Amino acid sequence: MAKKDLISVLDMKDEWPDLVDLAIKLKAERGTHGAPLKGKTLIMLFEKPSTRTRISFDVAITELGGHALHIDVSKMHMGSQGETVEDTAKVLSRFAHGIMYRAYDYKVMDKIGESATIPVISGLDNLEHPCQALADMMTIKEKKGSFRGKKLVYLGDGNNVCNSLLYSSAIIGLDMVACCPATRMPNAEIMLGAARIADANGCKISASHDPMEACKDADILYTDTWISMGDETPVEKAVKLFCMYQINSGLLSIAKEDCIVMHCLPAHRGFEITAEVMDGPQSVVFDQAENRLHAQKAVLCTLLK
Ligand code: CP
Ligand code: NVA
Repeated sequence: MAKKDLISVLDMKDEWPDLVDLAIKLKAERGTHGAPLKGKTLIMLFEKPSTRTRISFDVAITELGGHALHIDVSKMHMGSQGETVEDTAKVLSRFAHGIMYRAYDYKVMDKIGESATIPVISGLDNLEHPCQALADMMTIKEKKGSFRGKKLVYLGDGNNVCNSLLYSSAIIGLDMVACCPATRMPNAEIMLGAARIADANGCKISASHDPMEACKDADILYTDTWISMGDETPVEKAVKLFCMYQINSGLLSIAKEDCIVMHCLPAHRGFEITAEVMDGPQSVVFDQAENRLHAQKAVLCTLLK
């Protein structure tokens, strides 16, 4: 059977709803689900820093009976030392059962996916963050019970996290508004692709530049850092550009009374979200972070078994 990757949410479009349910099941069975990945090795390649992705993947595969290796890409021959990405992917495929890769450039991610003969799972690149989006869908299902008729408003930078949320929402049946400044809208092709999927799936993907309007009747408010890793926008410029998109108590009061607040973390209190909201009763950010572990177990079980 051909190997399968998770580089874009679209790679597992058909499995996405089942992955959410499997993640919820694995969470309930934590400590009793046995070792379905006994003897399997996951190579984790990092070009950028990570807390959640690195540690949750390591714990996930360990609890499933397997083993993870953490590699700093700058210490490999790939790239600066001149070994090709393709050769690297082929060599790693002879050692292990899966590759998890956090990359700067989605083109390099795609090359690894094309050359590896084992599954490649994205741990984020400049275009998407699929594992984050899966954990987010799981969190929404846990907190809200279902997706249909619910409205998620993403506020701030139309970045990798926003892009994967657009695909995920469209696939899962959630209405989503990307509320971003005109100069920082999500990837146009992804926005269009997600809108088409949503159309066929009876939900709605839309764009807005007006947080006050967008947040009316929202069930979920979501934000991420204003300056992603590798983005060289100066802080003062980012503050000017994004300040009206900050999740604060004023904006939250426009949303539904039982609206939940999400952030993929790491968060910058006082910038994209206030401390009051981040640490307040409507915030689910730490459940969301925990769910990375369970969501990734679902992905690993599906791709590496
Ligand atoms: N949310 C997330 O991917 O966090 P890390 O950068 O810590 O992995
Ligand atoms: N958009 C952020 C997500 C960090 C988890 C980044 O790419 O840096």
